[in-house]
Amino acid sequence: MKLNKLVLGMGLALGLMSAASAQTVLKLGYATAASSHYGVGSTVFCDEIEKGTQGRYKCQQFPASALGGEREMIEAVQLGTLDLVNTSTGPVGNFVPEVKIVDIPFLFRDYDHARKVMDGPIGQDILTKFPSKGLVALSWTENGFRHMTNNKHPIVKPADASGLKMRTMENKVHMDGYKTFGIQPTPMAFPEVFGALQQGTVDGQENPIPVILASKFSQVQKYLSLTGHVYSPGLLITSPRLMNKLSDADKKVFYEAAQKAKVAQRKKVNEDENNGIAQLEKDGMSVVRKVDGQAFRDALVPAYVAYSKEFGADNIRKIQEVR
Ligand code: PAF
Repeated sequence: MKLNKLVLGMGLALGLMSAASAQTVLKLGYATAASSHYGVGSTVFCDEIEKGTQGRYKCQQFPASALGGEREMIEAVQLGTLDLVNTSTGPVGNFVPEVKIVDIPFLFRDYDHARKVMDGPIGQDILTKFPSKGLVALSWTENGFRHMTNNKHPIVKPADASGLKMRTMENKVHMDGYKTFGIQPTPMAFPEVFGALQQGTVDGQENPIPVILASKFSQVQKYLSLTGHVYSPGLLITSPRLMNKLSDADKKVFYEAAQKAKVAQRKKVNEDENNGIAQLEKDGMSVVRKVDGQAFRDALVPAYVAYSKEFGADNIRKIQEVR
């Protein structure tokens, strides 16, 4: 009898100990290197949830497209084989169509404008569209304004880009716009891009400075033009499956961590924008700083007619009018 009680007591104590130390390790993937803007934002998120849940939740990060391209990672989150992805909006519109409007080229004037829209009612309303698609968007992180690189010649105006075979994201809104510049858009998942540039399968690509830096595109691209032709938002995405498991207090920790991740990721984008162009020049790239932005905007007029039909001219105007 005494022995039975002892065994029971020990069992209970062990159970309590393991409940107190139970730890869930969440898998978080992103496309670029751990030292990149995505890595900086993701690390802040992971540190904050670990701190805020007293170690009950922590992350294992999978940088550098270790789990595939962004589309594959979003699918994995939907399926439950990946817990979190820090991704550009590139492929997201294929899952949540309401996101597509923010992918329109030359929609945002600058970082200030873009961030205000994402953090304001328009951006926050878009986030509410995710759960019905089996996804939860915790915050708008950031990829940055995209610029063109290529191996043929400097691009100042659309006529210079015309005829170039350019890798683009798998994003129809981008591709429709870029066609008006005369570019031949070649959609491709990011993990294939370095090789395609190296082998000359495509002449160029377009990405923000933080990506061009982190992915060492200076090794395979000669010309960089600061076209800033489209803002590339980021999103930290998880699933309703995971969020529904969390207590209200833990949910708050996750949302607050995602806000801190956003701030840190945007700060890293700013730093790379400020210091990265000189670095890319040092690495041998020839940089066109003065681009004919008006000529690119003029070329886009027919695309804007189509965008207005698809997304509503009023909705586009509401974004443009945010000050
Ligand atoms: O070009 C892309 O696919 C994206 O900008 C990238 C590099 C995966 C980052 O989100």
